[in-house]
Amino acid sequence: MDRIRIVGGEPLVGTLPISGAKNAALPLMIASLLTEETLELHNVPRLADVGLLLRILGNHGVDHSIAGKRPGQTAETGQTIRLKAGNIIDTVAPYELVSRMRASFWVLGPLLARMGEAKVSLPGGCAIGTRPVDLLLMALERLGAEIEIDAGYVLARAPKGLRGAEIAFPKVTVGGTHTALMAAVLADGTTVIENAACEPEVTDLALCLAKMGARITGAGTARIVVEGVTSLGGAEHSVLPDRIETGTYAMAVAMTGGDVLLEGAEPDLLQSALDVLVEAGAEISASNEGIRVRRNGAGLASVDVTTQPFPGFPTDLQAQLMALMTRAKGTTRIRETIFENRFMHVQELARLGARIRLDGDVAYVDGVARLKGAPVMATDLRASVSLVIAALAAEGETMVNRVYHLDRGFEALEAKLGRCGARIERISG
Ligand code: EPU
Repeated sequence: MDRIRIVGGEPLVGTLPISGAKNAALPLMIASLLTEETLELHNVPRLADVGLLLRILGNHGVDHSIAGKRPGQTAETGQTIRLKAGNIIDTVAPYELVSRMRASFWVLGPLLARMGEAKVSLPGGCAIGTRPVDLLLMALERLGAEIEIDAGYVLARAPKGLRGAEIAFPKVTVGGTHTALMAAVLADGTTVIENAACEPEVTDLALCLAKMGARITGAGTARIVVEGVTSLGGAEHSVLPDRIETGTYAMAVAMTGGDVLLEGAEPDLLQSALDVLVEAGAEISASNEGIRVRRNGAGLASVDVTTQPFPGFPTDLQAQLMALMTRAKGTTRIRETIFENRFMHVQELARLGARIRLDGDVAYVDGVARLKGAPVMATDLRASVSLVIAALAAEGETMVNRVYHLDRGFEALEAKLGRCGARIERISG
C-alpha cells in the first residue's frame, strides 16, 4: 500500500488548481441511468471513486468513454466522460461493489424510476458513523415504491411507475435529496421536496437534470418542486469546483503560512468556512481567477465552530479545521452535528503532539506551539487529509499510511502541494 512522506515546515506559495467536486461528479454520473441518450460530463476529477463508479454503472449497462487530453490539459485538469445507458441490462447493484462506496447506493432512485424495479445492496456502516438509508427509502415509498429488505438487499418495485408526492425530510440529507430528485423527475405528476438539502452538489445535479429535460424549481433552497416528465434526453454539463478541496487547501495555507491562489475556486460555495479562516487570522480575497489565501507572520487565533448543513460550516472540513487549530492560541471548540462518530482523526493528531479533549459531540483543541512528525494513518478521506495538513507544519518527517483514502477524494494531492513548495512524496508499495 502506498504511503505519503511529508517533511514539515515549508510555507506554501504559488498557484494550486481546484478540481471538479467528487460529491457532485458521483450523483451526476449516476444520473446517466435516467436516459438512453449520452450524458457528457466535463471537469470530472481523476479519483479512485470515479473509477469505481464507472465499473458499477458498467454493470448496469452504462457504456462510457473518456475523452483524450486536449492541448494544454494536464493530469490535473479534469476529464470529460461520456456516459450512455442505451439499455439497462441489470437492475441489481451487488454488495461487493456497493460496500466499497456508499454513494453507489444512489443508483436505486434512477433505476427504479426508469425500469420500475431495482435491487441494491444495503451499504453498511462506515468509519464516520452508522449512516442509515431510511430517509432515502422513505422518499421512494412516498413516490409509490414498494420496498422490501431481504438478505441485505433493498428490493424496490413500482410496476405502474412512480407518482408525484410530497416528501418532507425530518432531517437534512444530501443523499436523500439526490434520491428524491432522481426518482421524481420521471414520476407521474408533481413532487414537492420539503427540508431539502441546499448543498451546491444538489443544485449542480438539478441543473444537469434540467438540461436533460427535467422540470425542477427551487434547487438550492429547502423546497424543491419537480414536475415529472415521461423521458429525459442527453446533455452536456461541467462539474462544479470542489468546495471541500478548496477549504482543505485554504487551511493548509493558513497552517503553514504563505500565499496561494486556489485557481478556479468559488467563494460562494464555502463562505462559512472562509469566514472561520479569516477569524483564525488568514487573509482571504476573491477574484475572477479564484480565491487567494495568505497568512504572514502572525499566529492563529482559536475559534468556536459547529458543523451544519449548507450554508453552515461543512462536516467534510471539520477534521481539517481541527488540524489547523492544533496550533492556534487558546482553546478551540468544535461541535460535530452531522455524523455521530466523526472524530477518528483525534487520536492520530495526538500522535503528532496535538492536545484535544472529546466530550460527546464536542472536541476541545488546546493549541500547542509545535507539532512533531510521526507515522499516522486514518480511516476516512477527510480525516486522512487532516493529517496531511498537520504534517505540513510538523517538525521533521510524517509518514501518512493508508493513502488509498486520499486517492478516493483528492486529485493529484502530492503534485498540487509539491508545486507550492511542500516537501511531500509518495512512496509506492
Ligand atoms: N441520515 C439518516 N437517514 C438517511 C440518510 C441520512 O439518518 O436515510 C443522516 C446521516 O446519518 C447523517 C445525516 O443524515 O447524520 C446527513 O447525512 P447525508 O445523507 O446528508 O449524507 P450523505 O448523503 O450520505 C454526503 C456526502 C458526505 C457528506 C454528507 C454531509 C457524498 C458522496 N457524500 O453524504 O461526504 O459528509 O453528505 O454533507 O456526497 C465525504 O466526501 O468525505 C463525505 C463523507
